[in-house]
Amino acid sequence: AGSTNTHWWSRVERRMAWFASLALLGALHVAALAFPVLSHLALCLRRHKDLRRRYGAWAVVTGPTSGMGRSTALELARRGMNLVLVGRNPAKLRDISAAISKAAPAVQTKTVVLDLSLVSTAQGEKLTLR
Ligand SMILES: NC(=O)c1ccc[n+]([C@@H]2O[C@H](COP(=O)([O-])OP(=O)(O)OC[C@H]3O[C@@H](n4cnc5c(N)ncnc54)[C@H](OP(=O)(O)O)[C@@H]3O)[C@@H](O)[C@H]2O)c1
Repeated sequence: AGSTNTHWWSRVERRMAWFASLALLGALHVAALAFPVLSHLALCLRRHKDLRRRYGAWAVVTGPTSGMGRSTALELARRGMNLVLVGRNPAKLRDISAAISKAAPAVQTKTVVLDLSLVSTAQGEKLTLR
């Protein structure tokens, strides 16, 4: 009877080990599924930093007239930063300035017409000293 009992216990232990391994696998799978959802939620719910308090009231954006620079300028303006907008084309700079004033009327902008490829050249030195 003793040997039957030991045999029975070892079967129960093996089953429990299986159950524990499956439960662990299940938990890992659920965690892997939940992680991206939770991190996305955390990203959506986080409080934005107060950029003005952290970096000052003004930011410089180069290339603000199109692409990523334009989106960056509009987002910074939406978050209350005043902007110095640097680009080569005065008409495009006026256009982004107007878009910012419309989207965030309290925000101040200054435009600087400058070809950044001239930085560190003799022509650029002359332009920046003007
Ligand atoms: N790391 C990445 O994964 C990744 C991905 C995408 C883009 N990028 C880089 O991010 C930058 C922006 O890309 P994008 O596609 O948004 O726009 P983009 O077309 O490369 O840049 C356009 C902006 O840059 C300005 N610009 C171009 N040359 C200039 C110069 N010599 N002086 C002053 N301003 C100048 C333009 O202003 P004006 O024409 O009005 O002067 C315009 O506002 C690029 O350098 C690009 O290579 C990186």
